[in-house]
Amino acid sequence: MTIPKSQWIWFNGKLVPWDQATVHVAAHVLHYGSSVFEGIRAYETTKGTAVFCLDDHVQRLINSCKIYRMALPYSAEEIKKAILETIRANGHRSCYIRPIAFRGVGGFNLDPRNCPVELAIITIEWGRYLGAEAIEKGVDVAVSSWRRMAPDTFPAAAKWGGQYLNSQLIAMEAHDRGCAEGIALDINGYVSEGSGENIFLVYKGSIYTPPLASSILEGVTRKVVITLASELGYQVREELIPRELLYIADELFFTGTAAEITPIRSVDGVIIGNGERGPITKRLQEEFFAIVEGRKEDRYGWLTYL
Ligand SMILES: Cc1ncc(COP(=O)(O)O)c(C=O)c1O
Repeated sequence: MTIPKSQWIWFNGKLVPWDQATVHVAAHVLHYGSSVFEGIRAYETTKGTAVFCLDDHVQRLINSCKIYRMALPYSAEEIKKAILETIRANGHRSCYIRPIAFRGVGGFNLDPRNCPVELAIITIEWGRYLGAEAIEKGVDVAVSSWRRMAPDTFPAAAKWGGQYLNSQLIAMEAHDRGCAEGIALDINGYVSEGSGENIFLVYKGSIYTPPLASSILEGVTRKVVITLASELGYQVREELIPRELLYIADELFFTGTAAEITPIRSVDGVIIGNGERGPITKRLQEEFFAIVEGRKEDRYGWLTYL
């Protein structure tokens, strides 16, 4: 996909034209992956444009900075305001929002703390991440030969630029095998997550998802789905998941800001359930899309209107 340009990018405190939001080649981030970012969606609702789970995303950005000792020169309130300002300036009705804080020019030391921290907010108009049909028909995936990081190597809870090299290996391998996405196992061989999504499975009437200790990113959509599933009366169990449960699950689906709720129809060529979107996945999608599109009451305060 090429990025559809927007008019403005918020860059270090002001809106600048897209082509002028550039970074020097000596910036620390370019050499060592020293950035923290978020992926957020704004939806067109019946009452205007609304950002989904803005508070949670900004808090995760701040937490990622805390883990990597990055002193962000903006408060949560300032970042939220800047995000809304950028969407307004670009006139989007719906969009994908990418805030990124990174270490700029300040030397090549591996202790990066004397590099300035810069913040940019990019907004683009963007459709379905795993393809337009994926939401209904589901995707074919494969278990990756690449594992997610061991807990004492990289902190999985931080959405940190350099860590996405692991995700790139998982995604490229999956595509080379003709799959839409890969599922990585954790260091102990239990199911972890996709390259950019959390995973859920339905088995014998319960819903399972890997725990934070399986080297997953604590997804915002994951939390939303746990909330909606519990509200619908399902028990959601955050437990270690052995690989073989993927093959015998009744339903499997990914969650993520980009992927939203995407059914998985096969894993390593093994058909999941009857190969169609399962009833619980469908029910959760209906509930999710009704809220984000403003057709149902936003009972958890997930939407921030422009
Ligand atoms: C590695 C990884 N796991 C899970 C997710 C899903 O998180 P969220 O629902 O907050 O988008 C993402 C996307 O941000 C991700 O990059």
